[in-house]
Amino acid sequence: MGKRNISRRQAISTASAGVAGALITWPLSAVQAGTFSQDKLAVTGGTKVHTGGWPTWPVWDQSAESRLTEMFRSGRWWLGRGEHVAEFEKQYAALMGAKRCLATASGTTALITAMGVLGVDAGDEVLVSPYTFIATYNAIFFHKALPVFVDTDPETFLIDPSKIEARITDRSVAILPVHIYGLPADMDGINAVAAKHGLKVVEDACQAWLAEYRGKKVGTLGDLGCFSFQNSKHLPAGEGGAILGNDDELVDHCHAAHNCGRPYGSMKQAPGYPSRGGNFRMQQSQAIILLSQMKRIGSDNDTRLSNALYLDSKLKGIPGIVPYKPAPGASRAVYHLYPFRYIKDQFNDVPKEKFIRALNAEGIPCSSGYGMQNRDGLIEEALTSKAYRRLFPESRLKQWREENILPGNDKLCGEAVTFSQSMLLGSRSDMDDIINAIAKLYTRRDELAKI
Ligand SMILES: Cc1ncc(COP(=O)(O)O)c(C=O)c1O
Repeated sequence: MGKRNISRRQAISTASAGVAGALITWPLSAVQAGTFSQDKLAVTGGTKVHTGGWPTWPVWDQSAESRLTEMFRSGRWWLGRGEHVAEFEKQYAALMGAKRCLATASGTTALITAMGVLGVDAGDEVLVSPYTFIATYNAIFFHKALPVFVDTDPETFLIDPSKIEARITDRSVAILPVHIYGLPADMDGINAVAAKHGLKVVEDACQAWLAEYRGKKVGTLGDLGCFSFQNSKHLPAGEGGAILGNDDELVDHCHAAHNCGRPYGSMKQAPGYPSRGGNFRMQQSQAIILLSQMKRIGSDNDTRLSNALYLDSKLKGIPGIVPYKPAPGASRAVYHLYPFRYIKDQFNDVPKEKFIRALNAEGIPCSSGYGMQNRDGLIEEALTSKAYRRLFPESRLKQWREENILPGNDKLCGEAVTFSQSMLLGSRSDMDDIINAIAKLYTRRDELAKI
């Protein structure tokens, strides 16, 4: 089948008019292009575009088995005995280009530890991205501090650095940007505001292993960077987390804070080393699994990136489908999810929920991204609690409520659609099915409006 270049508009009208195959840009094969016009949507009983499965996640690496068995038989299961956690810390720091690493029980405990060590305390404020997972702002609440949400740039899905300054108060101590979906945030912009106002920067890189900003790994660009190794993550261990840093004193303090306040490298309390701490330690079994999973993350990320760029190049040709735009300085995204925006005006005003339902029915699993987390009920519960009423004057909490208006973030929450990272490990023909299914929905948008 020969392809020839035609304009996007021509391609759309051609597909809409039901002319099969030869004239195509985003539709990928003659058979499928014909199907759009002749077949019904799968949600109304037509044939699915994608009938096969999708890669599953996580992928077990058998090389972990002998080390796990040996470790379990030895009884050396915890941090205090055994070498695997220390080995992982060394290898992860080297992989990420950081001086030091501390392995933790989870990404949440990494965030809690990093913020505590950088001085976030009761009554303080932390400027934070609202387009994120609940754990990001829960970690701020853990310290009885106030998360102050800074609006999102809906095009990049990331915190808009130009909006940070207006939300700084004399209680602000840190900025917590999130490299959501593995998309690098504009760290120069964020670090410049932090330096001007004497704020610390903790990067929430819990979804961004090996993502790069101006050629450097994210999570190494602020004061401390935090990662998650929960089961769905690109580097999975069931649960797990890490903090990266380049300042020995800070990272030593993180080690103490995650291990009952004991000095780095010791399992004993030391006189003259007064440090409060919890037990946020990683287990040896988590480290063994992570060491085995580290072998595949580089090539997996290459596959995800190549498929994501292919999707971008094709999907941007479909009216109403807008791939994410990299923030200034973002040099490599790692796509924990593949995100795009669905602009319903271009789809006869069909609500996003119907688009998602119909795309799922075509055999393309997708979901709607994060909700408006800045309106999460747990926030009001915290703000009205005894502790917050003691820690913050009523006038400050009133002002916080009045300023908690984030039009960019609201817009993004209304428009975002995502695919899971493991779908990006599929074949090129799987990607073609994604493109064709969306093109089918666009072509048959009149029918979509009626579902
Ligand atoms: C952006 C973000 N921050 C923090 C976390 C918390 O990590 P964990 O689940 O390992 O505690 C996650 C986990 O999904 C996350 O996606």
